[in-house]
Amino acid sequence: MCGIFGCILKNGNAAPVIHSSLKRLEYRGYDSVGIATISDGKIFLKKDQGKIDEVHKCINLDDLPGNIGIGHTRWATHGAPLHVNSHPHSDCTGTITVVHNGIIENFGDLKLELQNLGHAFVSKTDTEVIPHLIEEIMKNKLGSSFADAVQEAIKRLEGSFALAAISSYEPDKIVCARNESPLVLGVSDNGVFCASDIPAFLPLTNKVVMINNGELIILTVEGYQIKKIQDNSLVERVPETIEWTAEMAVKQGYPHFMIKEIHEQPEVLRNTLRLQDRYLDLLSTFLDRATEIFLVACGTSYHACLAASYMFSKLSFLPTYPVYASEFIEQYGKSVNIDSTILAVSQSGETADTIAAVTCAQQRAATILSLTNVIGSTLTRVSRVYVGTQAGPEIGVAATKTFTSQLSVLVQLALRLAKKRGKVSQDEIDVLEVQLDKLPDIVDVIVKTQEDKVKQIAHKYANSKVFFFLGRGISTATAFEGRLKLMEIAYVPSIAFPAGESKHGPISLIENGLPVVFVCQKDETHKTVIGNIMEMKARGAKILAIIEEGDNEIKALADDYIEVPKGVPSVLSPIPFAVPLQLLAYYMALEHDCDPDMPRNLAKSVTVK
Ligand code: M6R
Repeated sequence: MCGIFGCILKNGNAAPVIHSSLKRLEYRGYDSVGIATISDGKIFLKKDQGKIDEVHKCINLDDLPGNIGIGHTRWATHGAPLHVNSHPHSDCTGTITVVHNGIIENFGDLKLELQNLGHAFVSKTDTEVIPHLIEEIMKNKLGSSFADAVQEAIKRLEGSFALAAISSYEPDKIVCARNESPLVLGVSDNGVFCASDIPAFLPLTNKVVMINNGELIILTVEGYQIKKIQDNSLVERVPETIEWTAEMAVKQGYPHFMIKEIHEQPEVLRNTLRLQDRYLDLLSTFLDRATEIFLVACGTSYHACLAASYMFSKLSFLPTYPVYASEFIEQYGKSVNIDSTILAVSQSGETADTIAAVTCAQQRAATILSLTNVIGSTLTRVSRVYVGTQAGPEIGVAATKTFTSQLSVLVQLALRLAKKRGKVSQDEIDVLEVQLDKLPDIVDVIVKTQEDKVKQIAHKYANSKVFFFLGRGISTATAFEGRLKLMEIAYVPSIAFPAGESKHGPISLIENGLPVVFVCQKDETHKTVIGNIMEMKARGAKILAIIEEGDNEIKALADDYIEVPKGVPSVLSPIPFAVPLQLLAYYMALEHDCDPDMPRNLAKSVTVK
């Protein structure tokens, strides 16, 4: 994620305004903070790693001079959370400086090209290519305006961005632009603002201009001009007045973080699908060489590991052992060794059980790899190689967007390994890659078309005392995740089993009207799942099925169903099929008057064993 902010004031210094606005964006990331202002034709810049308050205590962010400036609060993706990687980033001459949220996919190629032209880079970020690219364009096209140079530079960027740039050559303006990452403008009597999100400037103005993808904006003290990046045409857009309270604004109008985060999944998946090839290559090389692989995690992250074990097995023909981190030492502490590889998965990177398992394996010389949402966390520090899930901060205690982003990285890894090991035909891999790219849109469709239906279903089953969740094959993991979500936030006792296993005991609990949620992806398990549904129906269970659109066989059997768009391959199915279950848990929590963001007895990060 990351939060960006910029302002030009008619009266007063920009720095304190940027500082307080960044505080309201801190929910988007808090690895580092930085502000750059312009005064008397010179750029002044302060930045450092750490949360805003900590950094401000040490270097006073408020005393930068000037009425114009930009700022950034970071969620590290490329490069550790260090001073050098903090934004703003500057060109070689220090006359151009940029803040950015998003991922520049082709930064590796651009960096090489610019280095060959003599540009010196100081950070490991993708962002740093932007000021150098602008510098290079301005050098080659003498006389071109700063905004034109930014526009030219942007045309060379692939990936997602919301950025704001200032230059001492034209000290009266901020140039900002958007592609996929959010950007909004605020307009007040005392100036103009650009920000990642409305809460940043809400105490200053409620007059807002939404910015669309592919637009570039020139801010001056007089106001704003919006252009289309591709054809330079001007866009007329007047400010709208929004009536949000500050609290509503942080949640972008959603009543809870959990539902906001469920809705963020299409965007997060798009980012996760932009992962640099080299990270996946490196991880897959380690996995390919490994003698035994343990997938170690807790809670939702464990369910991602469980699903991943099917992905690795089906796509890469690679056996892996998913293990609850809290059981790892007891179960494998003596046998783990130099030939073992641990792939630890953790949203926070701080979960005590996961860190303990990893530490034990490390002491026995095993190779530690990890997947986490928090670069710079303890887990990244103890890992030989780690990769980030690019989900941005998750505030709701229930893991939602981080689950689907973990799965999206893990399936990319399995595909990479499949290629390396030559076990699956290129045609099959091509089909899967095309389907993988469609997942963000598919998740978008689910949220847009099924949410109301899930809400009604939650209302219908609100008084049920117990829920069953069943699935076969890879959907076992999805069923487990659906159960965890419902239990933890709606406090409904729930049971999850592989559907086949339900006959070996759990079925004795089934009685008239007990809801059984079946996760029914359309694959080779479909026929058997139908058999399992019949067994449950025969004992009076109510069937709530998550099905592929147009699955008439199951529709005819189910009491209620929720549809997922057609054609999602089985190995990818946990990503879209988990979404209706997240929504079900959320709306059940509301039916029970529970606060889904702060379930009792739980914490976002469990740092005790
Ligand atoms: O940060 P981690 O992924 O290591 O956290 C693991 C679990 O504590 C976490 O998934 C927990 O189960 C969530 N409350 C699930 O929604």
